[in-house]
Amino acid sequence: MDPTLERIYGMTGAQIEAARRHLMVGGATPGPTLVKGKGVRVQDIDGNSYIDCTSQGWALYLGYTNDEIRQVICEHAQNLTHVHQGFNSLPQLYLVSCLAQLAPDGLDRVSFTVGGGPAVEAAMKIALRNRPGAKEFIALWDSYHGTTFGSAGASWIATRAAGSFTGQQHFLPMLHSVQRAPNPYCYRCPFGQELASCDLMCAEMLRITIERGVNGPTAGVILEPIQASGGQIIFPKRYLDRVREICDEYEVPLIFDEVQTFCRIGQWFAAEYFAVTPDIIAMGKGLGAGLPIAAIIIRDKLEGFSLKAEELHTFANNSLSQVAAIKQIEIIERDGVLENTRQVGAYLADGLRKLQEEFPEMGDIRAVGLHIGVEYVRDPGTKEPAVEECLQIRREGLQLGAIFGLGGVRKNVLKVKPPLIVTWGEADEILDILRQAMHKVLR
Ligand SMILES: Cc1ncc(COP(=O)(O)O)c(C=O)c1O
Repeated sequence: MDPTLERIYGMTGAQIEAARRHLMVGGATPGPTLVKGKGVRVQDIDGNSYIDCTSQGWALYLGYTNDEIRQVICEHAQNLTHVHQGFNSLPQLYLVSCLAQLAPDGLDRVSFTVGGGPAVEAAMKIALRNRPGAKEFIALWDSYHGTTFGSAGASWIATRAAGSFTGQQHFLPMLHSVQRAPNPYCYRCPFGQELASCDLMCAEMLRITIERGVNGPTAGVILEPIQASGGQIIFPKRYLDRVREICDEYEVPLIFDEVQTFCRIGQWFAAEYFAVTPDIIAMGKGLGAGLPIAAIIIRDKLEGFSLKAEELHTFANNSLSQVAAIKQIEIIERDGVLENTRQVGAYLADGLRKLQEEFPEMGDIRAVGLHIGVEYVRDPGTKEPAVEECLQIRREGLQLGAIFGLGGVRKNVLKVKPPLIVTWGEADEILDILRQAMHKVLR
């Protein structure tokens, strides 16, 4: 073994404790110290093994240490690793062609960046560039777009959505370019409507906000077609159709933040799933098979970036990540990974619905592909959020060998989002662990 790796892997308990004192982490649900993983499973430093239903920030589509991804990275690293964006490289050109081909018709130019938040900001920049005189965006209640200043200003973490302010309140002087409109959170409709008879008041509020809630012309409407961090909230297609109409009527660029939906819903893009085409799509997370890369792809009619330092990052042209992204696209196509995502996702969702008969505290189960969340409530009638119970279920899950995600603005949504290669057998294990965890906490 490489002597540097030997030293790293050989850290003693005392060295680890000492090192922790130097580390600052600015967010996320804490988890165990991980040492190695394969497929959907990962091991911690004490030898415990877990099925990871977080895919490490929802980013490992092919699971841990995929052999082909490892192989292609190692081989390409013999030729190039870091390339500045001022230089073209073959992986960069190959990947933009792939993405332009996969994206909905009419979206054909790609700009790479370093993460999801910066991708959302890049999308905001394109919108501003194309809307002279516009200053403010509209985002939706409970949306999450990142923690960079521009993206945080559009995210729930800058509001009192969780019943109190998060750390973003320290940064308010930098967050001032976004107005908000209601999200179509049908389980808790703020207008008290039922989906079947709903007249899309939330879309109407968006229209009214464009007319009366924004100073000057609206620079863009930004939304996640399925809100992830906010609580796995699946938007009705009718709502997205109406938003598209409204944006067309007012000539406002529509931005889909697909940082989490890309592939995870069992289709390349949510735009395709909902058959609603935005003007700009932001991607990140799983795009690089676990290596850092994010991107936007924009409509042909929009003016793109110029070379005048509008969007310039030293590491926005990561050659290794691009090669990993290309290889991953090939594997997804060759192995029917999107089909697996749809099928095993539906199987997991069915299993969860069966568990719901035994545990009515599973108030709402929301699933598209492997983009799955369970909203826990104390009583399905009152829908009082079961916050402590949800946390405990996650804790019990860890003891039993599964890492679940925790989220929703009320922190009562358990996320079940394993890598997209999860098998039927592993789905059974996940359901079994969850059943045991719920039994301990709720019975
Ligand atoms: C929908 C969405 N957009 C943007 C982001 C921000 O991405 P990043 O953490 O890579 O900046 C996230 C991260 O969770 C996300 O879920």
